[in-house]
Amino acid sequence: MSVPRLGGAEVLRLSSDELPAPAVGQVRVRVLAAGVSYGDILLRAGVIPGGPKRPFTPGYDLVGVVDRAGPGTRAPEPGRRVVALVRSGGYAEYALVAADRLVALPDGVDPVEASALALNYFIAQQMLHRVAGVRRGGTVLVHGASGGVGTAFLELAALAGVTVHGTCSAARAEQVRALGGHPVDRTEDFLRVVRGLPGGAVDAVFDPIGGRHFLRSYRAVRRGGVMVGFGQNAALRGNRRDLLTGAQGFLGGIVLPKLVPDGRRTLFYSAWSLEKSHPAAYRQDLATVLDLLREGRVSPRVGRTMPLDEVADAHRAMESAAVSGKIVLVPAA
Ligand SMILES: NC(=O)c1ccc[n+]([C@@H]2O[C@H](COP(=O)([O-])OP(=O)(O)OC[C@H]3O[C@@H](n4cnc5c(N)ncnc54)[C@H](OP(=O)(O)O)[C@@H]3O)[C@@H](O)[C@H]2O)c1
Repeated sequence: MSVPRLGGAEVLRLSSDELPAPAVGQVRVRVLAAGVSYGDILLRAGVIPGGPKRPFTPGYDLVGVVDRAGPGTRAPEPGRRVVALVRSGGYAEYALVAADRLVALPDGVDPVEASALALNYFIAQQMLHRVAGVRRGGTVLVHGASGGVGTAFLELAALAGVTVHGTCSAARAEQVRALGGHPVDRTEDFLRVVRGLPGGAVDAVFDPIGGRHFLRSYRAVRRGGVMVGFGQNAALRGNRRDLLTGAQGFLGGIVLPKLVPDGRRTLFYSAWSLEKSHPAAYRQDLATVLDLLREGRVSPRVGRTMPLDEVADAHRAMESAAVSGKIVLVPAA
């Protein structure tokens, strides 16, 4: 599956290539399941700067079976089930993955559920614990709390004894409440809601909306707290990227507040943010959330599984929020 040019879901093209041979340090993985993420849509539309060179195969995560390792490469044995976060390449029957990105899929864990978990729970775990360092008893605001990443925040925060106020549409408020969150209607002024909490501010805000929203989120943070931007949904209008809104978000909501010495931090997080400063974090954090799934302590919602060749419909379903829960692509067996 490839994206030859930027645009709407119609640019997604099925392509059939020769089975690729793994190079030194690589492993060929037969893909069992690949998650559809909003980030795939932003990359396809060109909203995320520095995306992969076109044509590229989308797919931030994959769950699969080790097929073959490159020459002299230390890797799990063929047949072992593995999970990996990759910047692109998940939407495929076979993928070449760097051996050091493969983390074991625990026995008994369903590949589709692991795919629904991998990216969303990994990033929520990192943002909550490594980036924001929110303590038990803390309070955070999560935007898009009814979505895939939002649900991950709700479940992981509940395990950590952290209170979540989460913006969402009215139709999904019950879903947020059922996971222990306090829903805030997304048409309401969330700053007013936060001002009404004890202390009038929260320890951290996690914001995938972007644009001017980042600045408002920053204002909801207490001294010593942090505003973590992790998406730019506002910079995609219909199928068009809105570069101005994206730039306003970064400059006004992330960069400029850094110049104000008020004890509040702002940053933009990506799943790859910690790779240089904490090289071991990728494997540790992915293994941690997979273990939580094996133990039944988290339950990522699978909205729909779809065959790989229906990927354009999968993207349209995600864009129109027609499916509640993760959409997982499953290549033909
Ligand atoms: N930085 C990274 O490495 C990384 C990795 C993965 C994902 N992401 C980002 O995470 C975000 C969420 O991804 P996802 O896969 O969880 O998407 P998702 O399942 O579609 O969830 C997004 C949710 O946001 C809500 N929403 C949309 N506009 C909103 C607004 N103005 N105010 C409040 N809520 C709003 C929608 O819920 P309602 O209909 O209930 O409002 C939607 O369900 C995306 O921006 C994606 O790019 C970042």
